[in-house]
Amino acid sequence: MKNILVLGAAGQIGSELVPYLRNIYGDSHVVATYNRTPLPKEVMEAGPSTQINATDANSMNEVVKKFNIDTIFNLVAVLSAKGEANPPLSWKVNMETTFNCLEIMKDAKGAVFTPSSIGAFGPTTPKDHTPQDTIMRPTTIYGISKVAGELLGDYYYLKYGVDTRGLRYPGIISNVTMPGGGTTDYAVEIYYAAVKEKKYRCNLPAGTFLDMMYMPDALRSAVELMEADPAKLIHRNCFNVTAMSFDPEIIAAEIRKHIPDFVLEYEVDPVKKAIADSWPNSMDDSAARNEWGWEPEYDLEKMTKDMIEKVSAKLKK
Ligand code: SER
Repeated sequence: MKNILVLGAAGQIGSELVPYLRNIYGDSHVVATYNRTPLPKEVMEAGPSTQINATDANSMNEVVKKFNIDTIFNLVAVLSAKGEANPPLSWKVNMETTFNCLEIMKDAKGAVFTPSSIGAFGPTTPKDHTPQDTIMRPTTIYGISKVAGELLGDYYYLKYGVDTRGLRYPGIISNVTMPGGGTTDYAVEIYYAAVKEKKYRCNLPAGTFLDMMYMPDALRSAVELMEADPAKLIHRNCFNVTAMSFDPEIIAAEIRKHIPDFVLEYEVDPVKKAIADSWPNSMDDSAARNEWGWEPEYDLEKMTKDMIEKVSAKLKK
């Protein structure tokens, strides 16, 4: 990876991936792109950035040529719950962006990282220790686009030799940019509400277990996969990765170790509940561990301590 393009640099993952990559590969080698949401001043000042609509292949191609890009981190996506509110938008944004990245990198002979998700699984998938290779019949438009993206990645690798790689991310918890439109968003919101109001109204019911990961692990896993020896990669575009699995009661109990009078209430969103019920409780990520050495650093305890410190400091400013 010499010259990297990050699509979706203003999003939850992109806003932290850009500084992370710039730190490793050099400020001038990481181009941050955004569409509607502008980038923070520090990101614009630290290195190259540009506005593009990632569903427009020509403008993406121009940027790839201008900056001599060899690797794209394809982070543009409409997440699961927002996708159910507008399936055509979700399909257009998720698929056209992925397709453009692959076509452009086919010509540029480069690499593409595209995150897949726990959302690629569906109600007929085994729920516990969900295997790497298993039934995938998702029932959300987001999940369908993620499975299609995994298959397209495999196809462009096999047919054209594009160096496509990807991870099935669980819910990502972070403290810089809020996620938006996802089913796992509650696990970020709960920390802000706990620090601000000592109270949170959760839109998923108790007993809903989902895989989760703290942002530092999510960033490191993406770079480790992209730097992994290609000869060792059997799965390439679809590695299960996880760091922890919990339900709302378990995360609330962990928060109470720091904020003892924190109160968790419920106001269940039926759309989000149905989505969460169709996803795994916990994935088996042994393929990622075996093929490229994946190992998470943060468990729920370590993440919660850090989240409460960081969110408290942020809200005091
Ligand atoms: N965090 C995503 C969502 O909830 C899952 O990949 O939609």
